[in-house]
Amino acid sequence: MTRATRFLAACRGEATDCTPVWLMRQAGRYQPSYQAIRGKTSFFTLCQTPELAAKVTLNAVEELGVDAAIIFSDILVPLQAMGAKVEMTGAGPKLEALRDRAAVDALRVVEPAQEVPYVMEAIRQVKAGLAGVVPQIGFAGAPLTLASYLVEGGGSKSFPYLKGMLFADPETAHVLLDKLATVVSRHLRAQAEAGCEALQLFDSWASILNPRDYREFALPYLQRIISELSDLDVPKIFFAQGTASLLDVFVEIGADVLSVDWCVDLHAVRAKVGETPVQGNLDPTYLFMDQPALEARIREVLDQAGDAPGHIFNLGHGILPQTKPENARFLVDAVHRLTQKPRAEG
Ligand code: CP3
Repeated sequence: MTRATRFLAACRGEATDCTPVWLMRQAGRYQPSYQAIRGKTSFFTLCQTPELAAKVTLNAVEELGVDAAIIFSDILVPLQAMGAKVEMTGAGPKLEALRDRAAVDALRVVEPAQEVPYVMEAIRQVKAGLAGVVPQIGFAGAPLTLASYLVEGGGSKSFPYLKGMLFADPETAHVLLDKLATVVSRHLRAQAEAGCEALQLFDSWASILNPRDYREFALPYLQRIISELSDLDVPKIFFAQGTASLLDVFVEIGADVLSVDWCVDLHAVRAKVGETPVQGNLDPTYLFMDQPALEARIREVLDQAGDAPGHIFNLGHGILPQTKPENARFLVDAVHRLTQKPRAEG
Protein backbone atom coordinates (compact mmCIF):
# COMPACT_ATOMS: atom_id res chain seq x y z
CA MET A 1 0.00 0.00 0.00
CA THR A 2 1.18 3.55 -0.77
CA ARG A 3 0.14 7.17 -0.22
CA ALA A 4 -2.05 6.79 -3.33
CA THR A 5 -4.43 4.35 -1.64
CA ARG A 6 -4.21 4.56 2.15
CA PHE A 7 -6.50 7.57 2.73
CA LEU A 8 -9.33 6.20 0.55
CA ALA A 9 -8.95 2.71 2.06
CA ALA A 10 -9.33 4.16 5.57
CA CYS A 11 -12.41 6.13 4.41
CA ARG A 12 -13.91 2.77 3.39
CA GLY A 13 -13.02 1.26 6.76
CA GLU A 14 -10.33 -1.00 5.31
CA ALA A 15 -7.00 -1.87 6.94
CA THR A 16 -4.02 0.30 5.92
CA ASP A 17 -0.20 -0.03 6.15
CA CYS A 18 -0.13 2.96 8.51
CA THR A 19 -2.64 5.60 9.60
CA PRO A 20 -3.31 8.15 6.83
CA VAL A 21 -3.00 11.80 7.78
CA TRP A 22 -3.80 15.20 6.30
CA LEU A 23 -4.50 18.55 7.97
CA MET A 24 -7.53 20.77 7.62
CA ARG A 25 -6.38 24.12 6.16
CA GLN A 26 -3.05 22.50 5.25
CA ALA A 27 -2.47 25.20 2.63
CA GLY A 28 -2.39 28.50 4.47
CA ARG A 29 -0.67 31.33 6.23
CA TYR A 30 1.60 29.22 8.46
CA GLN A 31 3.59 28.35 5.31
CA PRO A 32 6.24 30.75 3.97
CA SER A 33 5.46 29.46 0.44
CA TYR A 34 1.79 30.47 0.86
CA GLN A 35 2.72 33.88 2.27
CA ALA A 36 4.99 34.50 -0.73
CA ILE A 37 2.16 33.87 -3.22
CA ARG A 38 -0.50 35.58 -1.09
CA GLY A 39 1.74 38.62 -0.67
CA LYS A 40 1.27 39.37 -4.36
CA THR A 41 -2.42 38.43 -4.78
CA SER A 42 -5.71 39.04 -2.98
CA PHE A 43 -7.32 36.01 -1.34
CA PHE A 44 -10.18 35.63 -3.83
CA THR A 45 -7.90 36.28 -6.83
CA LEU A 46 -5.82 33.37 -5.55
CA CYS A 47 -8.99 31.21 -5.42
CA GLN A 48 -9.98 32.36 -8.93
CA THR A 49 -6.62 31.71 -10.60
CA PRO A 50 -6.33 27.95 -11.27
CA GLU A 51 -2.54 27.97 -11.72
CA LEU A 52 -2.05 29.65 -8.32
CA ALA A 53 -4.73 27.64 -6.49
CA ALA A 54 -3.21 24.44 -7.88
CA LYS A 55 0.28 25.54 -6.85
CA VAL A 56 -0.62 26.21 -3.20
CA THR A 57 -2.59 22.94 -3.06
CA LEU A 58 0.40 20.98 -4.37
CA ASN A 59 2.94 22.86 -2.21
CA ALA A 60 1.12 21.70 0.94
CA VAL A 61 1.25 18.06 -0.18
CA GLU A 62 4.92 18.28 -1.01
CA GLU A 63 5.99 20.20 2.10
CA LEU A 64 4.02 18.05 4.56
CA GLY A 65 4.09 14.57 3.03
CA VAL A 66 0.35 14.14 3.75
CA ASP A 67 -1.81 11.36 2.31
CA ALA A 68 -4.39 13.61 0.64
CA ALA A 69 -4.56 16.96 -1.14
CA ILE A 70 -7.46 19.36 -0.52
CA ILE A 71 -8.26 21.78 -3.31
CA PHE A 72 -7.39 25.35 -2.36
CA SER A 73 -10.60 27.36 -2.38
CA ASP A 74 -13.03 28.60 0.28
CA ILE A 75 -16.50 27.73 1.51
CA LEU A 76 -17.51 31.32 0.60
CA VAL A 77 -16.69 30.92 -3.12
CA PRO A 78 -20.10 29.46 -4.14
CA LEU A 79 -21.83 32.25 -2.19
CA GLN A 80 -20.23 34.81 -4.49
CA ALA A 81 -21.66 32.84 -7.41
CA MET A 82 -25.12 33.09 -5.82
CA GLY A 83 -24.82 36.89 -5.84
CA ALA A 84 -23.53 37.53 -2.31
CA LYS A 85 -20.97 40.32 -1.91
CA VAL A 86 -17.99 38.82 -0.08
CA GLU A 87 -14.60 40.31 0.76
CA MET A 88 -11.68 38.85 2.71
CA THR A 89 -10.18 41.33 5.17
CA GLY A 90 -7.34 40.95 7.66
CA ALA A 91 -10.00 40.27 10.29
CA GLY A 92 -11.74 37.54 8.26
CA PRO A 93 -14.61 37.53 5.77
CA LYS A 94 -16.97 40.51 5.40
CA LEU A 95 -20.26 40.10 3.57
CA GLU A 96 -23.20 42.31 2.75
CA ALA A 97 -25.60 40.83 5.32
CA LEU A 98 -28.87 39.21 4.20
CA ARG A 99 -31.44 39.94 6.86
CA ASP A 100 -34.89 39.58 5.27
CA ARG A 101 -37.00 37.56 2.89
CA ALA A 102 -36.40 39.87 -0.08
CA ALA A 103 -32.62 39.46 0.29
CA VAL A 104 -32.97 35.69 0.57
CA ASP A 105 -35.28 35.58 -2.46
CA ALA A 106 -32.70 37.52 -4.49
CA LEU A 107 -30.01 34.83 -3.98
CA ARG A 108 -29.56 32.85 -7.17
CA VAL A 109 -29.61 29.03 -7.15
CA VAL A 110 -26.70 28.63 -9.53
CA GLU A 111 -24.82 25.78 -11.17
CA PRO A 112 -21.28 26.20 -9.74
CA ALA A 113 -19.69 24.33 -12.65
CA GLN A 114 -20.81 27.26 -14.82
CA GLU A 115 -20.49 30.14 -12.36
CA VAL A 116 -17.18 29.23 -10.67
CA PRO A 117 -15.53 27.09 -13.39
CA TYR A 118 -12.12 28.14 -12.06
CA VAL A 119 -12.56 25.77 -9.09
CA MET A 120 -13.04 22.78 -11.42
CA GLU A 121 -10.12 23.92 -13.60
CA ALA A 122 -7.89 24.14 -10.51
CA ILE A 123 -8.99 20.60 -9.53
CA ARG A 124 -8.03 19.30 -12.99
CA GLN A 125 -4.62 20.99 -12.74
CA VAL A 126 -4.04 19.57 -9.23
CA LYS A 127 -4.99 16.12 -10.47
CA ALA A 128 -2.45 16.38 -13.28
CA GLY A 129 0.19 17.75 -10.89
CA LEU A 130 -0.38 15.01 -8.32
CA ALA A 131 0.11 12.32 -10.98
CA GLY A 132 -1.62 9.78 -8.76
CA VAL A 133 0.67 10.27 -5.73
CA VAL A 134 -2.26 11.06 -3.38
CA PRO A 135 -6.01 11.55 -3.89
CA GLN A 136 -7.64 15.01 -3.89
CA ILE A 137 -10.49 16.13 -1.61
CA GLY A 138 -13.19 18.58 -2.77
CA PHE A 139 -15.25 20.48 -0.21
CA ALA A 140 -18.10 22.83 0.60
CA GLY A 141 -19.54 24.55 3.65
CA ALA A 142 -22.66 23.04 5.21
CA PRO A 143 -25.85 25.11 4.76
CA LEU A 144 -26.02 26.25 8.42
CA THR A 145 -22.41 27.49 8.46
CA LEU A 146 -22.85 29.24 5.09
CA ALA A 147 -26.09 30.83 6.33
CA SER A 148 -24.23 32.12 9.38
CA TYR A 149 -21.77 34.09 7.20
CA LEU A 150 -24.55 35.40 4.95
CA VAL A 151 -26.94 36.49 7.70
CA GLU A 152 -24.35 37.81 10.19
CA GLY A 153 -22.32 39.47 7.43
CA GLY A 154 -19.13 37.77 8.65
CA GLY A 155 -17.91 35.88 11.69
CA SER A 156 -19.77 36.19 14.97
CA LYS A 157 -19.57 35.27 18.65
CA SER A 158 -23.25 34.79 19.48
CA PHE A 159 -24.90 34.70 16.01
CA PRO A 160 -27.80 37.03 16.90
CA TYR A 161 -29.01 37.67 13.35
CA LEU A 162 -28.79 34.06 12.17
CA LYS A 163 -30.47 32.72 15.31
CA GLY A 164 -32.96 35.57 15.16
CA MET A 165 -33.93 34.43 11.67
CA LEU A 166 -34.03 30.73 12.60
CA PHE A 167 -36.29 31.28 15.59
CA ALA A 168 -38.33 34.39 14.69
CA ASP A 169 -38.73 33.82 10.94
CA PRO A 170 -38.16 30.10 10.36
CA GLU A 171 -39.91 30.19 7.00
CA THR A 172 -37.29 32.57 5.56
CA ALA A 173 -34.53 30.55 7.23
CA HIS A 174 -35.75 27.35 5.58
CA VAL A 175 -35.91 29.05 2.15
CA LEU A 176 -32.29 30.16 2.64
CA LEU A 177 -31.06 26.76 3.89
CA ASP A 178 -32.84 24.99 1.04
CA LYS A 179 -31.21 27.21 -1.61
CA LEU A 180 -27.81 26.68 0.01
CA ALA A 181 -28.29 22.90 0.13
CA THR A 182 -29.05 22.82 -3.60
CA VAL A 183 -25.94 24.82 -4.51
CA VAL A 184 -23.73 22.85 -2.10
CA SER A 185 -24.92 19.55 -3.54
CA ARG A 186 -24.25 20.74 -7.12
CA HIS A 187 -20.87 22.19 -6.16
CA LEU A 188 -19.74 18.93 -4.55
CA ARG A 189 -20.91 16.91 -7.56
CA ALA A 190 -19.05 19.22 -9.96
CA GLN A 191 -15.84 18.82 -7.91
CA ALA A 192 -16.13 15.01 -8.01
CA GLU A 193 -16.74 15.15 -11.77
CA ALA A 194 -13.63 17.35 -12.16
CA GLY A 195 -11.53 14.68 -10.42
CA CYS A 196 -11.93 14.85 -6.62
CA GLU A 197 -11.87 11.39 -5.07
CA ALA A 198 -13.40 12.36 -1.70
CA LEU A 199 -15.69 15.20 -0.59
CA GLN A 200 -15.82 16.98 2.76
CA LEU A 201 -18.61 19.13 4.19
CA PHE A 202 -17.55 21.69 6.82
CA ASP A 203 -20.14 22.61 9.45
CA SER A 204 -17.77 24.75 11.48
CA TRP A 205 -20.50 26.45 13.53
CA ALA A 206 -22.74 23.46 14.23
CA SER A 207 -22.10 23.88 17.95
CA ILE A 208 -24.28 27.02 18.16
CA LEU A 209 -27.41 24.83 18.06
CA ASN A 210 -28.67 22.24 20.53
CA PRO A 211 -29.67 18.79 19.20
CA ARG A 212 -33.34 19.78 18.88
CA ASP A 213 -32.61 22.82 16.72
CA TYR A 214 -29.84 21.09 14.77
CA ARG A 215 -32.39 18.40 13.85
CA GLU A 216 -34.73 21.07 12.55
CA PHE A 217 -32.33 23.45 10.77
CA ALA A 218 -29.34 21.35 9.73
CA LEU A 219 -29.97 17.60 9.65
CA PRO A 220 -32.60 17.48 6.84
CA TYR A 221 -30.39 19.52 4.50
CA LEU A 222 -27.29 17.46 5.27
CA GLN A 223 -29.21 14.23 4.71
CA ARG A 224 -30.49 15.57 1.42
CA ILE A 225 -27.00 16.54 0.23
CA ILE A 226 -25.55 13.12 1.14
CA SER A 227 -28.42 11.26 -0.51
CA GLU A 228 -28.25 13.36 -3.69
CA LEU A 229 -24.58 12.39 -4.01
CA SER A 230 -25.12 8.70 -3.26
CA ASP A 231 -24.54 7.68 -6.88
CA LEU A 232 -20.98 9.08 -6.73
CA ASP A 233 -18.43 6.48 -5.71
CA VAL A 234 -16.46 8.89 -3.51
CA PRO A 235 -16.38 8.94 0.31
CA LYS A 236 -18.31 11.82 1.84
CA ILE A 237 -16.75 13.19 5.03
CA PHE A 238 -18.70 15.33 7.47
CA PHE A 239 -16.73 17.69 9.75
CA ALA A 240 -18.25 19.78 12.51
CA GLN A 241 -17.37 21.42 15.75
CA GLY A 242 -19.82 20.39 18.44
CA THR A 243 -19.19 16.66 18.49
CA ALA A 244 -19.66 16.45 22.26
CA SER A 245 -23.24 17.69 22.12
CA LEU A 246 -24.36 16.65 18.63
CA LEU A 247 -22.71 13.30 17.85
CA ASP A 248 -26.02 11.40 18.02
CA VAL A 249 -27.41 13.70 15.32
CA PHE A 250 -24.24 13.59 13.19
CA VAL A 251 -24.56 9.80 12.99
CA GLU A 252 -27.95 10.25 11.28
CA ILE A 253 -26.53 12.37 8.44
CA GLY A 254 -25.39 9.29 6.54
CA ALA A 255 -21.82 10.47 5.83
CA ASP A 256 -19.18 7.80 5.16
CA VAL A 257 -16.66 9.38 7.56
CA LEU A 258 -17.22 11.59 10.62
CA SER A 259 -14.53 14.19 11.31
CA VAL A 260 -14.66 15.31 14.93
CA ASP A 261 -13.32 18.22 16.96
CA TRP A 262 -10.77 17.87 19.79
CA CYS A 263 -13.20 18.19 22.69
CA VAL A 264 -14.13 14.51 22.59
CA ASP A 265 -12.21 11.33 23.28
CA LEU A 266 -11.91 9.29 20.05
CA HIS A 267 -12.45 6.10 22.02
CA ALA A 268 -15.89 7.37 23.06
CA VAL A 269 -16.65 8.45 19.50
CA ARG A 270 -15.66 5.04 18.13
CA ALA A 271 -17.84 3.33 20.75
CA LYS A 272 -20.80 5.39 19.56
CA VAL A 273 -20.38 5.32 15.77
CA GLY A 274 -19.54 1.63 15.46
CA GLU A 275 -17.71 0.86 12.21
CA THR A 276 -18.12 4.30 10.66
CA PRO A 277 -14.61 5.60 9.95
CA VAL A 278 -13.54 8.56 12.07
CA GLN A 279 -11.23 11.48 11.22
CA GLY A 280 -9.45 13.68 13.76
CA ASN A 281 -8.85 15.01 16.29
CA LEU A 282 -5.66 16.61 17.67
CA ASP A 283 -6.15 20.05 19.23
CA PRO A 284 -4.52 22.35 16.61
CA THR A 285 -2.82 24.35 19.38
CA TYR A 286 -0.86 21.23 20.46
CA LEU A 287 1.26 22.05 17.41
CA PHE A 288 2.66 24.92 19.52
CA MET A 289 4.32 22.39 21.88
CA ASP A 290 7.90 21.25 21.46
CA GLN A 291 8.23 18.08 19.41
CA PRO A 292 8.61 15.50 22.25
CA ALA A 293 5.51 16.89 24.01
CA LEU A 294 3.63 17.02 20.69
CA GLU A 295 4.57 13.41 19.99
CA ALA A 296 3.12 12.35 23.36
CA ARG A 297 -0.21 14.03 22.44
CA ILE A 298 -0.19 12.39 18.99
CA ARG A 299 0.26 9.01 20.71
CA GLU A 300 -2.73 9.74 22.92
CA VAL A 301 -4.96 10.37 19.89
CA LEU A 302 -3.68 7.19 18.25
CA ASP A 303 -4.28 5.20 21.45
CA GLN A 304 -7.83 6.53 21.67
CA ALA A 305 -8.45 5.63 18.02
CA GLY A 306 -7.38 2.06 18.81
CA ASP A 307 -6.33 -0.68 16.41
CA ALA A 308 -9.53 -1.11 14.41
CA PRO A 309 -9.27 0.13 10.80
CA GLY A 310 -11.03 3.35 9.74
CA HIS A 311 -9.06 6.12 11.42
CA ILE A 312 -7.77 9.09 9.44
CA PHE A 313 -5.52 11.31 11.53
CA ASN A 314 -6.30 15.02 11.32
CA LEU A 315 -6.63 18.05 13.55
CA GLY A 316 -9.88 18.81 15.36
CA HIS A 317 -10.13 22.08 13.38
CA GLY A 318 -7.95 23.97 10.89
CA ILE A 319 -4.22 24.53 11.44
CA LEU A 320 -3.54 28.01 12.84
CA PRO A 321 -1.36 30.67 11.17
CA GLN A 322 0.96 30.76 14.25
CA THR A 323 2.03 27.11 13.68
CA LYS A 324 5.68 26.37 12.93
CA PRO A 325 5.80 24.56 9.55
CA GLU A 326 8.42 22.12 10.90
CA ASN A 327 5.98 20.98 13.61
CA ALA A 328 3.28 20.28 11.00
CA ARG A 329 5.77 18.18 9.05
CA PHE A 330 6.85 16.46 12.27
CA LEU A 331 3.22 15.53 13.02
CA VAL A 332 2.73 13.86 9.63
CA ASP A 333 5.96 11.89 9.91
CA ALA A 334 5.20 10.91 13.52
CA VAL A 335 1.76 9.54 12.62
CA HIS A 336 3.30 7.41 9.86
CA ARG A 337 6.20 6.24 12.05
CA LEU A 338 4.10 5.41 15.11
CA THR A 339 1.50 3.42 13.18
CA GLN A 340 3.71 1.57 10.66
CA LYS A 341 2.64 -2.07 10.59
CA PRO A 342 5.44 -4.64 10.47
CA ARG A 343 5.67 -6.13 6.97
CA ALA A 344 4.36 -9.67 6.67
CA GLU A 345 7.13 -12.27 6.33
CA GLY A 346 7.02 -13.82 2.92
O1 CP3 B 1 -7.74 23.21 3.79
C1 CP3 B 1 -7.16 23.75 2.82
O2 CP3 B 1 -5.92 23.83 2.70
C2 CP3 B 1 -8.03 24.24 1.69
C3 CP3 B 1 -8.42 25.60 1.74
C4 CP3 B 1 -9.51 26.09 2.69
C5 CP3 B 1 -9.56 27.46 3.05
N1 CP3 B 1 -10.70 27.67 3.74
C6 CP3 B 1 -8.56 28.49 2.68
C7 CP3 B 1 -8.50 29.75 3.44
C8 CP3 B 1 -10.61 25.47 3.27
C9 CP3 B 1 -11.00 23.99 3.26
C10 CP3 B 1 -11.36 26.48 3.91
C11 CP3 B 1 -12.64 26.22 4.59
C12 CP3 B 1 -13.28 27.30 5.34
N2 CP3 B 1 -13.35 28.64 5.02
C13 CP3 B 1 -14.07 27.07 6.51
C14 CP3 B 1 -14.37 25.73 7.12
C15 CP3 B 1 -13.22 25.22 7.93
C16 CP3 B 1 -12.96 25.99 9.19
O3 CP3 B 1 -11.81 26.42 9.36
O4 CP3 B 1 -13.87 26.13 10.02
C17 CP3 B 1 -14.54 28.33 6.92
C18 CP3 B 1 -15.41 28.60 8.14
C19 CP3 B 1 -14.09 29.31 5.97
C20 CP3 B 1 -14.38 30.76 5.97
C21 CP3 B 1 -13.15 31.56 6.12
N3 CP3 B 1 -12.17 31.69 5.15
C22 CP3 B 1 -12.75 32.31 7.26
C23 CP3 B 1 -13.52 32.42 8.55
C24 CP3 B 1 -11.51 32.89 6.95
C25 CP3 B 1 -10.73 33.90 7.79
C26 CP3 B 1 -10.19 33.36 9.02
C27 CP3 B 1 -9.01 32.45 8.79
O5 CP3 B 1 -8.99 31.35 9.35
O6 CP3 B 1 -8.13 32.87 8.08
C28 CP3 B 1 -11.15 32.44 5.66
C29 CP3 B 1 -9.91 32.78 4.93
C30 CP3 B 1 -9.07 31.66 4.43
N4 CP3 B 1 -9.54 30.54 3.80
C31 CP3 B 1 -7.64 31.61 4.46
C32 CP3 B 1 -7.28 30.41 3.83
C33 CP3 B 1 -5.88 29.91 3.58
C34 CP3 B 1 -6.70 32.70 4.99
C35 CP3 B 1 -6.92 33.94 4.23
C36 CP3 B 1 -5.70 34.68 3.78
O7 CP3 B 1 -4.83 34.17 3.04
O8 CP3 B 1 -5.67 35.87 4.12
